Amino acid sequence: MFLEEIFCMSTSGVTVLLCVFSLLLLALRGQRRTRGTLPPGPRPWPLVGNLLQMGEQVHLSLTNLRVQYGDVLQVKMGSLVVVVLSGYSTVKEALVRQGEAFAGRPDFFSFSAIANGESMTFSEKYGETWVLHKKICRNALKTFSQAEARDSSASCLLEERICAEALEMVEALKEQGDEAGDEGIDPSILLVTSVANVVCALCFGKRYDYNDTEFLSIVNINTEVLRIFAGGNLADFFPIFRYLPSPSLRKMFQFINRMNEFMERNIKEHLDTFDRNCIRDITDALIAMCEDRDEDEEKATLSNSQIVRSVIEIFGAGFDTIITGLQWSILYLIKFPDIQAKIIQEIDNQVGTNRLPQFNDKPNMPYTEAFIYEVFRHSSYVPFTIPHCTTENITFNGYFIPKDTCVFINQYQVNHDMEIWGDPESFRPERFLTQSGNVNKTLTEKVMIFGMGIRRCLGDNFARLEIFVFLTTLLQRLNIENIPGQELDLSSTFALTMKPKHFRIKIAPRN
Ligand code: HEM
Repeated sequence: MFLEEIFCMSTSGVTVLLCVFSLLLLALRGQRRTRGTLPPGPRPWPLVGNLLQMGEQVHLSLTNLRVQYGDVLQVKMGSLVVVVLSGYSTVKEALVRQGEAFAGRPDFFSFSAIANGESMTFSEKYGETWVLHKKICRNALKTFSQAEARDSSASCLLEERICAEALEMVEALKEQGDEAGDEGIDPSILLVTSVANVVCALCFGKRYDYNDTEFLSIVNINTEVLRIFAGGNLADFFPIFRYLPSPSLRKMFQFINRMNEFMERNIKEHLDTFDRNCIRDITDALIAMCEDRDEDEEKATLSNSQIVRSVIEIFGAGFDTIITGLQWSILYLIKFPDIQAKIIQEIDNQVGTNRLPQFNDKPNMPYTEAFIYEVFRHSSYVPFTIPHCTTENITFNGYFIPKDTCVFINQYQVNHDMEIWGDPESFRPERFLTQSGNVNKTLTEKVMIFGMGIRRCLGDNFARLEIFVFLTTLLQRLNIENIPGQELDLSSTFALTMKPKHFRIKIAPRN
């Protein structure tokens, strides 16, 4: 992505700009005053800082640097100083015990593209308004998760929607699997459309046909935005690029505008037809949280445009993260057929074949739960949280970290720490089970995939339930296996959410 952008500009123009920029940086560097010892780290190069030392696998490079420099280290990404935190206790100390000091988001140029710079997740300044915004979103998700099911034996609307979509996906997989035979199918396409439908159902109470053109265009836009966003942006690390034309950023802005139009249309429909006694989806739940605002002006709530933004964020957050979790789960299931057999055994014992798996099966299926935690830990497919930044000057673990410093939380390192896991490279769901076969909560707490503390993911419960229902519905009805001759590769390339390499699966109905 960086190179792609660089080559889009004339070489001589860039050279002059970079020279001026590096001189400025050198001058500024001498002026930087500190009030204590800064965190240690590798010596940065002029202009590029430590970017070249990061290579392609940033999470692995920063994990290796921790061996030399410890849990609190500092690198420079271009001109941006980044403090990297590793080690479970250090991360917990920062995000939980000193949570407010680490609860900000850096002023990244690419973050400002999202929701016109007023995104709760990416750009809103940490403070009272942000705390209220997050609380409203959390309460809206809670309100929605308590909404009654419409017309089935499900315990709630959320369960009804997720179970229905999981079944739809399994039927489609079966059909395609039958046709493909030994050649197998790529499960990703169906996973994308199924999870997109769950998100549409949760946010807007709508389910789309898999071939609906509006639906497919939204799915594509979301995938494209994430792809561009995940590639990182030069303008975040070299501020001068904010003032130069960037084809990828322009494309991202266009995609985001189209996405916003779709969202705004749906949300307007909801505002027009809202009925407090019938909460249809998360959008209704958000409107309900804010409905009193006109009567009680003292009570701060969200404006209509903030409601729109909140729905966009929940929509975006619960999409790619879940699809990727399911892709990894399926890869591990075909890589380790004996583990798949144990999950199937648990489904047969607990659920049987006469009904679909439900939310309340989860606590009674510790092996399946342990498998999901081991997928999160081993793949660590969200290697860092969204970048944080300090909200005040702070002395942390003996090091001075100035206000507004960008902070990366290395979730990958925590999930592969020898001291916690002993054999972090082995894929062993059993590690999460106690001797009596229950889930070891003390250990599952140490799996880092949703962040922790004030900025912790809002949808972690939703996500774990959704992945549980999709996987158990799949294995209740189908056997999945590797296709002949296919090497299964568990490695991945660094990104915001790291995808497995493409693979195909062979599908056979059970029984
Ligand atoms: C397996 C699926 C998911 C994973 C791995 C995941 C992971 C994460 C991570 C790592 C963060 C950043 C935490 C930080 O910055 O410290 C985050 C934030 C967030 N997630 Fe999730 N997430 C998932 C699903 C969801 C779902 C389903 C929703 C909505 C229903 C959601 C809503 C959010 C929101 C709103 C934030 C922003 C929180 C903030 O900035 O304070 N996520 N998530």
